[in-house]
Amino acid sequence: MNRKLLLAANWKMNKLSGEAREFVLSYAAKLAESSVATVLLPPNTALVAVASTCKESGKGPVGLAFGAQNCYFQSSGAFTGEVSPQMLVDLGCRYVVLGHSERRAIFGESDELIGKKVKAALDAGLTPIFCIGETLDERNGGKLEEVLTRQVRVGLELVSDADLHKVVIAYEPVWAIGTGVVATPAQAQDAHKFVRSLLAKRSAQAAGQMQILYGGSVKPDNCFELMSQDDIDGALVGGASLEVESLLALHKECVRASK
Ligand code: 13P
Repeated sequence: MNRKLLLAANWKMNKLSGEAREFVLSYAAKLAESSVATVLLPPNTALVAVASTCKESGKGPVGLAFGAQNCYFQSSGAFTGEVSPQMLVDLGCRYVVLGHSERRAIFGESDELIGKKVKAALDAGLTPIFCIGETLDERNGGKLEEVLTRQVRVGLELVSDADLHKVVIAYEPVWAIGTGVVATPAQAQDAHKFVRSLLAKRSAQAAGQMQILYGGSVKPDNCFELMSQDDIDGALVGGASLEVESLLALHKECVRASK
């Protein structure tokens, strides 16, 4: 297995552009060179600041990249309040988070809508970080596999088998997001292995290449064990990504787990 680990920092609706700028300068200055890339995912209003400071930092897109937390599936038009994949590419984004559980639960995004966004992002040249995950009721009701199967099937329906490997998946159990209740390494590994088996039904080759990130209460003190699991290829982190020292500590743990 030669999949590299990826550390993705989902800042959600946090940080003004000046704060984002300071964060990037400080983080980049202390970031050790490694095979673990960091992807910063600021709110749209801070994307320009992050783009320019990432460039100034000289770390290059392999060590430090950035992206957005959402986009629409159309390239332009009368869609008030939305941004297109092309607009994100225009700012230098390489990634976009799609189907985050907060988008699904608070903003009513359906599997079908997310599937259209995944396809549009890929067509624009972005790497989608496509989020899936079950609620506590679904898990307790024995529906984990059913939910993941549906989310993966519909969310990736419009992606050709040849393009599948370009998608990054993020398994984020809803009950672990922002709660401090992290999935055990075994629970996460089981879910990741199951997701990879679903992908393998589409393309065994793509399934072997695809990064599947874990998200949900990842902290520096639980990161190493999670990242050491066979089918976990990185982390999508919310709360613990908001402070420079904490994100650096997470990066260190990812590097340690990649050896
Ligand atoms: P927390 O790390 O704050 O639990 O958030 C996880 C998440 O939703 C990342 O996308």
